Amino acid sequence: MKKILIIDDNKLILKTLKATLSKAGYAIIEAEDGEAGLHLARSEHPDLVITDYQMPGIDGLEVLSEIHKLKINLPVILLTGFGDIVLTIKSIQLGAFDYLEKPFSPVQLLSTIQLALNSVKRSNSLSEVFRKDNFSESMLEDNLLVGKAPQMKEIFKNIGLISMNKVNVLIQGDTGTGKELIARLIHFSGITRDKPLVVVNCSALTETLLESELFGHVKGSFTDSIRDKKGKFELAGEGTIFLDEISEISLNTQVKLLRVIQELEFEKVGGEATIPMKARIIAATNRNLEKLIEQGKFREDLYYRLKVFTISLPPLRERKEDIRDLVIHFLYKLNKRFNRNVIKIGEDVIEMLQKHDWYGNVRELENTILQAIIMSKNDVLEKENITLNSRLHHTPNELQVPQFRSLSDLEKYHIKRILDEVKWNKLEASRVLDITRPTLNAKIEKYNLVQ
Ligand SMILES: Nc1ncnc2c1ncn2[C@@H]1O[C@H](COP(=O)(O)OP(=O)(O)OP(=O)(O)O)[C@@H](O)[C@H]1O
Ligand SMILES: [Mg+2]
Repeated sequence: MKKILIIDDNKLILKTLKATLSKAGYAIIEAEDGEAGLHLARSEHPDLVITDYQMPGIDGLEVLSEIHKLKINLPVILLTGFGDIVLTIKSIQLGAFDYLEKPFSPVQLLSTIQLALNSVKRSNSLSEVFRKDNFSESMLEDNLLVGKAPQMKEIFKNIGLISMNKVNVLIQGDTGTGKELIARLIHFSGITRDKPLVVVNCSALTETLLESELFGHVKGSFTDSIRDKKGKFELAGEGTIFLDEISEISLNTQVKLLRVIQELEFEKVGGEATIPMKARIIAATNRNLEKLIEQGKFREDLYYRLKVFTISLPPLRERKEDIRDLVIHFLYKLNKRFNRNVIKIGEDVIEMLQKHDWYGNVRELENTILQAIIMSKNDVLEKENITLNSRLHHTPNELQVPQFRSLSDLEKYHIKRILDEVKWNKLEASRVLDITRPTLNAKIEKYNLVQ
């Protein structure tokens, strides 16, 4: 028989609750204030606690946090006044299993208790994922790259080779497959380890800004340049420059980049002195560069200069055997980051995750786990806290959506999409976007949009 501790200073409520719960087959112990309640919680080992919030002396929230210190897996249901949102939030923050607003029905009460007891049962039936036989110690490092699938093993082998030789590397892979993580691994595992790693997101800047970002500029070379500025190539020194989303650079900038790679030197924007280029270039893209070459949007000669060595990251759905390890890795990493303790997961849940297609790849998996950790009420990652995006919600076009950081990123993407949709008929596009043609032209210029 499950034992329930009820703490309430209102005798009448105590009596009613006791009657309802005894009838439902629970053993009841009761206390009329927080202090007595905590005492019973320690000595009587109840399976669940129901506590009122407002009581003289120790209130329900204090009872809750004390009980949490005592035993994490003892669910507490808080009874609150109607509509007290601040209290509701606080109780959940402190780890209440749930709260019930007065007045509540016996059905509500019993179903909440049932859920809470089931969650304990579930937790007791599972073992911790971080037990020695489940993982290797190294899987717990934050920056670790998880991957046992044959394709990933091959990639790690190649990284071993290229990290000892400063060749340029092109990393291809769908969004969220781990391109940036691979770039960091190449940089930090070899001869460049003690040198700088400089990251440039090529899609975030206009042509002029990107050039000054890459090559630097001298004072007065354009309106905002009030002093000399070093470019990323110079800052990278003998280390690595990581050019993310390389497909997004304009044809003009491509020419300049090509020259840097060929001549191994460059000038600052508006400057004359040549600066030697000693960094290794790692470029990444989630687009098909060969297709862009066919369409005249990417220079073939630059492509070959960048892809001295190519790493193609397979989408997650093609290496489903890695999903289990990734989940454990993310549980560890995210628990630590968000100070949570979700350390159990059922085999059924892992299977469900393995069946999903993960069009957002590892990043989508990581976000899904994060959301489920935040939502979980005990130490188990539960199925009902996992939201999987169905493929039906994705059009191929949307799969290409970059992670938007700013409003202008979104505007750029939207305008490009509409332009593509109307086959670059600007009159039509300005009508759809409800802006004038000069405004449209200005935006095309600003965002460097090309057909
Ligand atoms: N093999 C892996 N092991 C552990 N974590 C991974 C792995 N692959 C990716 N991640 C994690 O997934 C997230 C996305 O990875 P990353 O940013 O490197 O992807 P990306 O390919 O650069 O994505 P995008 O194309 O959207 O820029 C990061 O938090 C990264 O740490
Ligand atoms: Mg990236």
